[in-house]
Amino acid sequence: MLKTKIAVFVSGGGTNLQALIDARKNGVISSGKITLVISNNPDAYALKRAEKAGIKTMVISKKDCGTQKIFEDNLLMALKNNGIEMIILAGFMCILSENFTSQYPERIINVHPSLIPSFCGKGFYGIKVHEAALAKGVKVTGATVHFVNDIPDGGRIIKQKAVYVEEGDTPEILQKRVMEQAEWQILPEAAEEVAKKIMEGKEI
Ligand code: GAR
Repeated sequence: MLKTKIAVFVSGGGTNLQALIDARKNGVISSGKITLVISNNPDAYALKRAEKAGIKTMVISKKDCGTQKIFEDNLLMALKNNGIEMIILAGFMCILSENFTSQYPERIINVHPSLIPSFCGKGFYGIKVHEAALAKGVKVTGATVHFVNDIPDGGRIIKQKAVYVEEGDTPEILQKRVMEQAEWQILPEAAEEVAKKIMEGKEI
């Protein structure tokens, strides 16, 4: 069976991309192959991780594109040109509109660093999510992997994992614990689940 061709969208450090690359190597992901990494940020360290793993990279900057429509059309063209069947948003800090998401229904997944529906939606990304969780005083937080539709963080939930907040946590400490105990585990697992379904659907 042909493996599902995956593109990973990134913006920053790329530790979730690294978890996906490692999961390919250790067999957690066996139904998909990461064939393209796209960053909206030319300085993203995630690009270096992809290069090191021998994965094709592209930079498509929203700023250079000028409008959301041109940005998304360029992304779509790159995906079509590379035969991509599934997209993973791994720390991708741009919101995608229906113009984009409607082209890949239940084929785009995202990792979010909280237990949705807490601390999610517009304005909640990266460290801001953990700042908000600590400001609220929650005792349990975590991560969610969900399908992406036109509502920010609003698509169907695939996996969640809870993580305890500890006395003395700073946003940075909490972010690291949520990544280590939840994101790096559930993102590869969810990616395999979705890639497997796509692969089985196209059996020849
Ligand atoms: C991760 O914590 C990810 O869940 C979050 O940004 C971080 C990226 O880290 N994503 C969002 O907040 C999206 N709404 P990484 O670049 O090291 O994977």
